[in-house]
Amino acid sequence: MTFLYKADPVRGAEWAELFAQKASDMPFRIWPDVGPAEEVRYLGAWLPPDNLIETFPNLEILFSLGAGIDQFDLSALPEHLPLVRMIEPGIAEGMMEYVTMAVLALHRDLLPYIDQQRRAVWQGMRLVTSAQRRVGVLGLGMLGQAVLEKLRPFGFQLSGWSRSSRMIEGVDTYSGVSELPLFLAGCDILICLLPLTDETRGVLNAELFAQLPRGAALISAGRGGHLQQDDLLAALDSGQLSGAVLDVMEPEPLPVGHPFWSHPKILLTPHIASMTRPETAVDHVLDTIRRHREGLPLIGAVDRMRGY
Ligand code: GLV
Repeated sequence: MTFLYKADPVRGAEWAELFAQKASDMPFRIWPDVGPAEEVRYLGAWLPPDNLIETFPNLEILFSLGAGIDQFDLSALPEHLPLVRMIEPGIAEGMMEYVTMAVLALHRDLLPYIDQQRRAVWQGMRLVTSAQRRVGVLGLGMLGQAVLEKLRPFGFQLSGWSRSSRMIEGVDTYSGVSELPLFLAGCDILICLLPLTDETRGVLNAELFAQLPRGAALISAGRGGHLQQDDLLAALDSGQLSGAVLDVMEPEPLPVGHPFWSHPKILLTPHIASMTRPETAVDHVLDTIRRHREGLPLIGAVDRMRGY
């Protein structure tokens, strides 16, 4: 009945402590100290090991320790093995803070003001009220919905787009490829929180930027693979986009000398928008194990066909 943890060992030690408190009857091990491999029933991994099923023949649930699962090769995982993502409140909270910070920074022209400060320029810009500012979220899963809820009290005009249709109070929602142009045309600030799949790779490209209002800004906090980097540079240079806050990159870290490092219209952070929080993640894991034992549907179970 062992739970095996395979990711950063420092955080693993925190998980071990929480398991000792909350599930003292379940042996907890940190990779590479796997113990008897046939006893491993649950694996929590950022990157799963090769030969997963040969190595752990009695595995019952594979947990991704992140919100995303794009780092997993789904074709290498047996169909019967549930793969569960971290649908846990700790990740949502970090993302709500990060995106709120980024929206306010773009709304209040922080990037040009930082640039002006570097050049010792003291010059104010016209204030746009939040009621005039249209903020849209691409991807309305746990994170997209949490972010919209946090943004609501500021009074922005909020909208959201998702693959399949969703209703969210106080938010204009759009769905499917056919409604994407209408959604994009109404986004002064676009926030990308999509999962990375074959369908969404490279979606933040010239064609999409051209459909935003001129001077719109971008927040990219899902995965680096969404962004066509050259297209972003061109859109910033032409003025089609006015700024970008980027937390995710491909590859990470961004290579030395890359133009994003010093671009005055780009604010870059090193994939820190949000992280799985051990306290809440362990609750999610233990709840999932309980549900699995009781034959209930698993929250955060990945649909192999959709790819998230
Ligand atoms: C981080 O990027 C995550 O997937 O949780």
